[in-house]
Amino acid sequence: MSILAVEGLIAGYTASDMVLKGVDFRVEEGEIVGVFGPNGAGKSTLLKAIAGLIKPRQGSIRTGGEDIGGRHPTEIAKRGVVFVPQEANVFNAMSVEENLEIGAFLHSGDRSRIIGKMLSRFPELQAKRKAKARSLSGGQRQVLAMAMALIVEPHLMLLDEPSAGLSPIASERLLDVVHEINRHGVTVVLVEQNVRAALRIATRGYIFVDGRNSVEGSAHELASDPDVRRKFLGH
Ligand SMILES: Nc1ncnc2c1ncn2[C@@H]1O[C@H](COP(=O)(O)OP(=O)(O)OP(=O)(O)O)[C@@H](O)[C@H]1O
Ligand SMILES: [Mg+2]
Repeated sequence: MSILAVEGLIAGYTASDMVLKGVDFRVEEGEIVGVFGPNGAGKSTLLKAIAGLIKPRQGSIRTGGEDIGGRHPTEIAKRGVVFVPQEANVFNAMSVEENLEIGAFLHSGDRSRIIGKMLSRFPELQAKRKAKARSLSGGQRQVLAMAMALIVEPHLMLLDEPSAGLSPIASERLLDVVHEINRHGVTVVLVEQNVRAALRIATRGYIFVDGRNSVEGSAHELASDPDVRRKFLGH
């Protein structure tokens, strides 16, 4: 059974304008699935619908066979599906440690133990644990946002452009962190502008155009597809 199976999803922000016009999207356990496509294609909207931030008009969103479409975001997070949004994903005026405490809000177990575990797992956060989030580098802030999401010990993490605004080197480093998180057993959906870098760590990918999935394939298939190469890889 797929860890995520989206079928015939129609959803949007207003009744008259459905941004997602019929999306079929599947993720198997253990994968990193890349989601690519031009600005406005509906990539962020898809993640928001899966996370419960907008309600589907039609279609289904299943995790482990259970339909979570239209459930409350907290319910969805409790089922192990976490979302790290594109922007404003940490509390800038709070310290690294305080941000992790907020991430631990939903955790039912020993919160200080799990926060300690996150700090030791991400040394760049440990070193800055008393610093305000706004004083972190862009890459460190993204690591903090992911660490906050990991606290609930998710099965599936939805990442919306974690490398946006980072230098090429910082982007690569951040995607290495994503790869490492995946190796620790978390399935990942990765929306990325940097298709080349994302395909290095992804198992499969989808290309979205105008609210629909248009092309899908293994990372290797996408990287060797002439159309994908021309439009997204620059040759
Ligand atoms: N909160 C909102 N209210 C109304 N319309 C929205 C909202 N957010 C996005 N949209 C519209 O939905 C469409 C798809 O936006 P979405 O953010 O999903 O695109 P995207 O593929 O993530 O693009 P980008 O690569 O620029 O992040 C756009 O036309 C956008 O204007
Ligand atoms: Mg987006």
